[in-house]
Amino acid sequence: MRRYHPGPDFRHAHSIAELAAMAQRRLPNFAWEYLAGGAEEEITLTRNRQAFANIRLLPRTLVPCTGVDTRRTLLNQDLPLPMAIGPTGYNAMLHRDADIHLARAATARGLPFTLSTVSTSSLEQVVAAVPEVNLWFQLYCLRDPKVQEDLLQRASAVGCTTLLLTSDAVLLGNREWDRRNFVRPRQLSLRNKFDVLCHPRWLRQALWPQGMPGVANVERYLPKNQRTAAGAAHFIGAQMDTALDWDALARLRERWPHKLLLKGVLHPADAEKAVNLGLDGIVISNHGGRQLDGVPATVDCLPAIAAVAKGKLSLLLDGGIRRGTDILKACALGADGVLLGRATLYGVTVGGEAGAGHALDLLANELRLALSLLGQPQLDALRADFSTSLTVS
Ligand code: FNR
Repeated sequence: MRRYHPGPDFRHAHSIAELAAMAQRRLPNFAWEYLAGGAEEEITLTRNRQAFANIRLLPRTLVPCTGVDTRRTLLNQDLPLPMAIGPTGYNAMLHRDADIHLARAATARGLPFTLSTVSTSSLEQVVAAVPEVNLWFQLYCLRDPKVQEDLLQRASAVGCTTLLLTSDAVLLGNREWDRRNFVRPRQLSLRNKFDVLCHPRWLRQALWPQGMPGVANVERYLPKNQRTAAGAAHFIGAQMDTALDWDALARLRERWPHKLLLKGVLHPADAEKAVNLGLDGIVISNHGGRQLDGVPATVDCLPAIAAVAKGKLSLLLDGGIRRGTDILKACALGADGVLLGRATLYGVTVGGEAGAGHALDLLANELRLALSLLGQPQLDALRADFSTSLTVS
């Protein structure tokens, strides 16, 4: 049994798991559950990790481990590593200006950063703070066509060339902790208010003095007297377009001239539909186990999807990426790259920009080492040998 005794300094974290343990200590209960929790029994959340553990690596020996090469061309972009920071909402609940810290950490390493529709820094604020950011934007389909059109125009105006439409969260998954911790939207229960007071360091880094962060990206669409965290939560809930379907995606394809990805694909038939619609990519995702509990781990869905879609569009995967070996396994099984969710959030929680950067560096170093030890120093030469049950060699 492994034990983590992380001190307060994130630079001493040797793994994403250690960063997570530090983040858990830093955050009050409600924010920790928001960050780390999944839906219902957390079966899918657990599966995402277990599935990576079940994939065996079969190294070749006597291969010189010089010239390790982790570069990838993804969506016509040359990246030093096959990864990007994925979209997560309400990040300022973890650390003030977390979106900007994440954007800076990614940019410093030549990686894309994805801003969520429900981000706590707006598109414009991120680009003003990090002008050289490679910014991707995640869209939730909203009922009001004017709001949606304005979001698209704003994304274009700030130079976003990659749009991810998230399709698996038009209704919020059954997250019991969320209902337990709040008495009303953004109104903490008494017990959680007390717990917040027991976390002064987090209070200083996130809440003090402005209180619960608002959803800066959509604030302008709210009536002036409702521009609060609670008002934004209500607005988003009411605006989610539950009628979202393939026709809506086809219309978005016509409307958006740049790269368009669908995030939330698990079934190979949906991957084929995405190909036929002319999408540039899909993200094989179960929303980090936060939506329908019981769905498969994303990496278990990958081989069947790769069989029908590999080479026809870009295949990204997220869910449970915590080690360089996870990235290696995903790439060997056909992913062109991965998106990071909680891994970089743990980092930003305990160390802002430097903490997020530390998380990225841990994963990058682990990936380089794993490629060498596998005897496959070139990322692009990785392949899976399915005859030995998902062994990667
Ligand atoms: C998310 N995710 C998410 N996805 C999305 O499309 N829009 C969003 O606003 C959010 N918000 C969000 C908040 C938090 C706290 C988490 C943990 C996740 C899902 C995210 O993009 C990604 O699919 C998962 O996080 C991937 O799983 P791991 O890497 O966190 O295990």
